[in-house]
Amino acid sequence: MDIVICRNYDALSRAAARVVADLVNHKPDAVLGFATGSSPVGLYKELIRLHEEEGLDFSKVTTFNLDEYVGLPGDHPQSYRHFMNQNLFDHINIPVQNTHVPSGTSANHAASCEWYEKRIRDAGGIDLQVLGIGSDGHIAFNEPGSSLGSRTRMVTLTEQTIDDNSRFFKRKSDVPRHAISMGVGTILEARKLLMVASGKNKAAALAAAVEGPITSMITASALQLHPEAIVFADDDAAAGLKMRAYYDWIQKQSKKAN
Ligand code: F6R
Repeated sequence: MDIVICRNYDALSRAAARVVADLVNHKPDAVLGFATGSSPVGLYKELIRLHEEEGLDFSKVTTFNLDEYVGLPGDHPQSYRHFMNQNLFDHINIPVQNTHVPSGTSANHAASCEWYEKRIRDAGGIDLQVLGIGSDGHIAFNEPGSSLGSRTRMVTLTEQTIDDNSRFFKRKSDVPRHAISMGVGTILEARKLLMVASGKNKAAALAAAVEGPITSMITASALQLHPEAIVFADDDAAAGLKMRAYYDWIQKQSKKAN
């Protein structure tokens, strides 16, 4: 796993966006996996800037989002479809039909999850999956105890995640208790994983994910199983990493080599 520690959130967002942009420039019809939440907002801002100022072209890109709240239609202000439209899709030249977010309002969640997995396969699989990390160590909404082989399905959110995400809702009781989430197994099939982690409240989870044992109790630890995972963390999120000096050393050596 590559660990890149950046001095602040802006630097982290620019560095992470550069990885996405390099892929899209190299493979214009890339399949990208996207996350919602606060962590990737800076990355998306930077992609918008690269589109506007450097002509980064998304016209042939296909995207799949990690998750959606059960019960929220796509036009609900707290739905993840709405989040993606507002924070990225409405500002770049991606055809809306190329963008996929799991449905939170299907009459048959199991069938709609199966369809989502099939759409990913039919698109040729995900080239690069963007991830955040929950303060309980989750990726997507794979809460502690989620099988490392899990697929897209309906999950029940932990109280900690409901607390964490209540900042986006008027009342804590408005936060849905269930979500549709890509599974850990689905995520591990992406050809490359890119995690962004920012802030002190992520330090313990990130340290456990990167340096602790691989366990379904911290589903982000599954990144250790992936041959091409890169983590961009700011100083605060990196605060719990025991091997930090070594990660910095590796980055210094690779800069010298290039
Ligand atoms: C959202 C998602 C979640 C978030 C995580 C961190 O699509 O997959 O795993 O990445 O909950 O959320 P923030 O970035 O808001 O701290």
